[in-house]
Amino acid sequence: MIRHFLRDDDVTPAEQAEILDLAEKLKRNRFAARPLEGPKSVAVIFDKSSTRTRVSFHVGISELGGSPLIFTTATSQLGGKETPADTARVLERMVEAVVWRTYAQEGLEQMAAGTRIPIINGLSDDFHPCQLLADLLTIREHKGGTAGRTMTFIGDGRSNMGHSYLLGGVTAGMHVRVVSPDGYLPREDVVEDARRIAAETGGSVLVGSDIVELTTGADIVVTDTWVSMGFEAEKQRRLEAFADYRVTREVMAYAADDAIFMHCLPADRGFEVDADVIDGPQSVIFDEAENRLHAQKALLAWLLAKAKDETVLLRD
Ligand code: CP
Ligand code: NVA
Repeated sequence: MIRHFLRDDDVTPAEQAEILDLAEKLKRNRFAARPLEGPKSVAVIFDKSSTRTRVSFHVGISELGGSPLIFTTATSQLGGKETPADTARVLERMVEAVVWRTYAQEGLEQMAAGTRIPIINGLSDDFHPCQLLADLLTIREHKGGTAGRTMTFIGDGRSNMGHSYLLGGVTAGMHVRVVSPDGYLPREDVVEDARRIAAETGGSVLVGSDIVELTTGADIVVTDTWVSMGFEAEKQRRLEAFADYRVTREVMAYAADDAIFMHCLPADRGFEVDADVIDGPQSVIFDEAENRLHAQKALLAWLLAKAKDETVLLRD
């Protein structure tokens, strides 16, 4: 059956764990899965800038035996000239899956509704689910697991990362706390979805504006830019709104003694995080960045197997 990955809750808790288990195996043996041998192609399309997503999908598709076809919307007919559904119906004749980094979530939904190949959200205004898989893999590695761990996200709760930490975190059984200034709290429907999933997995959700209260005892402290791509016109207003929501050494001191610091990158040192935190001993940002590769390879292999009603084949 064709499955898409547009939001973190497009996979069940058991399926998310299966993908993360596979990512751990592929990290140990990078060439164990070759579902794209041929080479078969995967299209990776960008409406917005990228370093990690672009490189990790390029390398990952190659390591799965395939050929990455990477292009920008500006140099294609997508983006006003051709609908996402028509684009997908052309691409599905030639490629095995599509990864798309875009603005509106609706575009991804239209693309997914019109095709018979898996569509993957490479970041939208609302969610960044591939990043969450990498983050959860990193938490497994540094915290010995995800279930029962407390993760505090400090920043724009209404952003793609704020929403994905909520959905992806509770799917992994985590206690997710989101701290944002007024006006930047997560969307209520996303919070409700996260609460419903948390009730199944034993996780929990806390959302508010008090940094001290919501960071106290956290196992993981995480932040992201105050000005996400597409919101540059609001920069000045955002710098003022978020001025008291910086991750400093003082903020890290409220978290558990062995807490780790994470950031999806790119980071604005001196804004959402101080240099002595992001470059300090608690920071695991480069493990997190590397894990994009392993997590996305696992996701692709899993989706391609599902499309054929098979399980992922691994070789020694
Ligand atoms: N974290 C992340 O998605 O980075 P890029 O914007 O560089 O892809
Ligand atoms: N929230 C950020 C994430 C970048 C990877 C943005 O959308 O710009």
